[in-house]
Amino acid sequence: MKGIVLAGGAGTRLYPATKAFSKQLIPLYGKPMVYYPISVLMLAGIREILIITTPDDQPLFKKLLGNGSQFGIELSYKVQERPEGIAQAFLLADEFLQGEDACLILGDNVFYGQSFDRILREAIQTVETKREAVVFSYFVRDPERYGVVEFNEEHKVISIEEKPKHPKSNYAVVGLYFYPGDVVEQTRTVRPSARGELEITTLNQVYLEKGRLAVQTLGRGFAWLDTGTFESLHEAGEFIRAIEKRQGLQVANLEEIGYNKGWISRDDVLSAVNQYKGSDYAAYLLRLVK
Ligand code: DAU
Repeated sequence: MKGIVLAGGAGTRLYPATKAFSKQLIPLYGKPMVYYPISVLMLAGIREILIITTPDDQPLFKKLLGNGSQFGIELSYKVQERPEGIAQAFLLADEFLQGEDACLILGDNVFYGQSFDRILREAIQTVETKREAVVFSYFVRDPERYGVVEFNEEHKVISIEEKPKHPKSNYAVVGLYFYPGDVVEQTRTVRPSARGELEITTLNQVYLEKGRLAVQTLGRGFAWLDTGTFESLHEAGEFIRAIEKRQGLQVANLEEIGYNKGWISRDDVLSAVNQYKGSDYAAYLLRLVK
């Protein structure tokens, strides 16, 4: 399975903070926001990752993340000229994917919860063994802001709608999607919506209609954090801060994940310590390998 981080978009809702550079580069308590979705892919064991950005911001992402070898992963980059929809990521990733299974994560989605790596591994297994797409739902107060799933009495998904005025449930679809190798082919059947975008929800409807969509629910012990407004961005930062302070363990430290997975060596971690000398991040990495 290969990974895609979609980190384009105009970010207009956070203007002027995002006028000069992408939202996904904004710090979320100590790390650039894009570290958090990359950490999810790494926890899933995915090492080949495509970062999709705006044309202007690709150099900044490359400066920040390079080729990924410092984390034990392999990063490549692709430009999305205009934000023409989340599902467009698969058309842009056609050459990168070469027919392999794909996991797409939105560059502004932050997840935190127990046993997440198990949940991710199970999703990959479902894709591999059943050739089904896997998406996740999460109970929210304001479902009308998201893709929304409707379940029947047996908790089987029966519909999925994008930002409905009258949501059929409180279950939002989170920005983390797993698809089998035919995803590019299926995306080619998706027509732009009224707002002119290739909607991820339409792609999910395609899989649903074919009986090939599995929806897993992330329980209430799990955090799916919103970064769509300054208020929620601040709260997400507060959440990460509280967890990190209490435990003394960092969320989404990419060198730590790479090291724990055995993808980078102690020397690699020490070279990151050297590079980030003087920061809390470096001190944390030093403690990790001591
Ligand atoms: O966060 C989960 C939600 O993400 C889902 O529940 C919705 O079904 C899905 O449509 C999406 O809704 P948003 O309103 O959050 O989509 P937004 O247009 O804000 O895009 C989400 C991120 O993806 C954002 O960081 C920008 C990036 N993006 C978006 C589009 C449309 C791109 O990089 N390129 C794009 O063309």
